[in-house]
Amino acid sequence: MSNFNQERVLSVHHWTDTLFSFTTTRDPGFRFKNGQFTMIGIEVEGKPLLRAYSVVSPNYDEKLEFFSIKVPDGPLTSRLQHLKEGDPIIVGRKATGTLVLDNLMHGRNLYLLGTGTGLAPFLSLIRDPETYERFEKVVLLHGCRQVSELAYGEMITRDLPEDEFLGEEIRSKLIYYPTVTREPFRNRGRITDLITTSKLFGDIGLPPIDAENDRLMLCGSPQMIRDLKIILEERGFNEGNHGEPGHFVIEKAFAER
Ligand code: A2P
Repeated sequence: MSNFNQERVLSVHHWTDTLFSFTTTRDPGFRFKNGQFTMIGIEVEGKPLLRAYSVVSPNYDEKLEFFSIKVPDGPLTSRLQHLKEGDPIIVGRKATGTLVLDNLMHGRNLYLLGTGTGLAPFLSLIRDPETYERFEKVVLLHGCRQVSELAYGEMITRDLPEDEFLGEEIRSKLIYYPTVTREPFRNRGRITDLITTSKLFGDIGLPPIDAENDRLMLCGSPQMIRDLKIILEERGFNEGNHGEPGHFVIEKAFAER
């Protein structure tokens, strides 16, 4: 059996000149855990051209959704950005990745820290009922250069609190904290600085993170991940992975598309 399914594009949404999202059909046999990624792509000159993409949609959704940058000379995204409704798209049958709840030890608060398209896996996790069963508060940080790059903000602040099944949990537990580094906005600064200065904790009304109570997932810019890992390890947090749950888990953004 092939390792890939042929799916169809259902819709495309362009956020900015450099960011877009699209939804596709989903083979009912494709299973994944919220937070995981799979390989997706298109056929170019008879050969599949594939890259890893986190699934944005939760695993109970009958569609799949993905969030992508557009790299002008990127082999895949320079083409993918022209996708239209009805176009074919290849989606891997197997999902994987470390940003899954099982890789974290039990804790009180869950911090989801993403830059750019590193937000993607968290969009699936904040719609997973288990996230709210396991944690008292779920803090989603999205760091971008510009306000226009804060994709999905409306979905998070307007639609999710009204969700038929999860709305109540989301209203009481989910804290969304978008932050911008290169233009004015109500929250400003890098995620790393917001943590080390404790500005974040003052703003959201929670105590500064400690390894006993807090769990974190990191996804996005490799520099952000490298710096945050140092900050966390200095404070006694250990990285988790499959088979050995920890205080935090990491997924680098999949650059050069
Ligand atoms: P900054 O504008 O200060 O570089 P990018 O678009 O380069 O992937 O960056 C996305 C966001 O991640 C930007 O807000 C950027 O801030 C921030 N960022 C980049 N490097 C780091 C880092 N080492 N630590 C924290 N945030 C970072």
